[in-house]
Amino acid sequence: MMSSLLSLRYRPAERPSFFTVARMMRSPIKQAKAAIFRPLALSLLASLLVPLTVRGESPADSGFHLTHTCPASFELRDGGCVLRNRYKKYRSLRDAGVGGLKTGLPQLREGFTPQQIDLGRYLFFDPVLSAHGSVSCASCHDPAQGFADGRAQAVGIDGQTLPRSAPSLWNIGFFSTLLWDGSKNSLEEQMQGPLYSPFEMGNTPAQLLETLNGNHIYRALFEQAFGTTTIALDQVYTAVTAFESSLISLNSRYDLYAHGYHAALNEEEISGLNVFRSFVARCAECHTPPLFSNQQLAVLGVADAPGEIMDLGAEAITGNASQRGAFRVPSLRNITRTAPYMHRGQKATLEDAARFYTGGRGHEVPEGESLMIHWHIWEPQLTDREIQLLATFMGALTDEAFMPEIPTAVPSGLPVTQARQFASGNDVGFGAQ
Ligand code: HEC
Ligand code: HEC
Repeated sequence: MMSSLLSLRYRPAERPSFFTVARMMRSPIKQAKAAIFRPLALSLLASLLVPLTVRGESPADSGFHLTHTCPASFELRDGGCVLRNRYKKYRSLRDAGVGGLKTGLPQLREGFTPQQIDLGRYLFFDPVLSAHGSVSCASCHDPAQGFADGRAQAVGIDGQTLPRSAPSLWNIGFFSTLLWDGSKNSLEEQMQGPLYSPFEMGNTPAQLLETLNGNHIYRALFEQAFGTTTIALDQVYTAVTAFESSLISLNSRYDLYAHGYHAALNEEEISGLNVFRSFVARCAECHTPPLFSNQQLAVLGVADAPGEIMDLGAEAITGNASQRGAFRVPSLRNITRTAPYMHRGQKATLEDAARFYTGGRGHEVPEGESLMIHWHIWEPQLTDREIQLLATFMGALTDEAFMPEIPTAVPSGLPVTQARQFASGNDVGFGAQ
């Protein structure tokens, strides 16, 4: 009854907003009817939160719709998706020091609705977010490459080479210290970097809003996810954050082992784990389970190019000389997918990365350069066999079971871009393993 009344009074393509209802009630011609319409308007306002199917704007007509279901491993609680995971039963690092394998996780960004997460998925893969519709988040964070891009240095709009390598985004919703230099603290804040950088996606806030609001499919999808008829930037950031936070990788064979299923790792991997957490190698002091990062900054002194430290890391942000060359400890989850390694892709393989640590304190630091190398970086004198065991163990941190569905089409109608199809010719030649 209400919807048939609605289609008489309003253009079918437009859902009545608060303002159209309010305007109508002020009109002198309509005043007489106000008494009848006031209760209707009030109940209408109350129902605005419930998505209505409106003819002409239905995203389903265009083949796009948002799911009502949470991603795998999440359950719907109070309207939001909440992670179900065994690590949540364990005490956190803060309470229990460095701890063992049964250690809790940091707080996840969770509680987003299924619709927000799904909308974020479309946005993440849609090059419409960039200035010329050529670069999407997935151009540099390709699911097929561990949500990294297989390059030593990422390549942005018009083939421009960036100073650093694109990190994996698996488990990124647990991180509150973001970027290699640790300079961002929220995903919403972080993504404004690539979106508006002239080297990455080249967009402007005004143009992004105009493009999205000019796309009727996106308008309808945002309405489903947020209940408003005009798209706002905060909603874009929320949706992409919701999607990023759904990328969970915590069910590797290592995790089964950590939860008590001893047979999940083979002898070699267990030996590798033991080297990894030994006080000689000290890997687990910084790459602490279960994220395999303690999210702190550390100075290792990995040279950018032979004899050169060009990237000042956190010092460039804070001006603090003790942070010269400091980078946030990266996660090692799905690490076999994201070669080459380190902030500038300096190490081609996992063995190369592990061997760095046994080269001696500051062995790559050029003469005349002074870096305050972290005290856990020393000279563990690992044998070739131990380095190989470390690499083998890191391979057991692979789990992509909750890979999201990659859209074959996006609301802009632009081709879905991923790194392999994108801006060839700048690859340094370190193929993914
Ligand atoms: C042109 C390539 C490129 C594009 C496009 C791009 N990124 Fe990135 N991304 C990078 C690079 C490179 C870094 C590391 C930069 C740094 O630390 O200085 C990064 C870092 C990140 C991080 C931090 C990861 C961590 O471990 O701290 C997140 C989160 C992220 N990007 C999400 C996004 C999202 C969301 C989009 C789309 C809005 C996007 N990126 C678009 C290249 C890209
Ligand atoms: C003092 C803290 C610390 C210790 C101890 C440590 N790491 Fe790291 N690790 C880091 C930091 C910081 C980086 C990033 C450095 C850079 O990019 O210049 C890193 C990078 C890596 C990478 C590359 C990750 C990527 O995504 O590119 C691997 C692999 C790695 N470490 C393995 C190990 C292993 C194996 C050990 C033990 C032998 C170890 N780490 C010990 C802090 C540490």
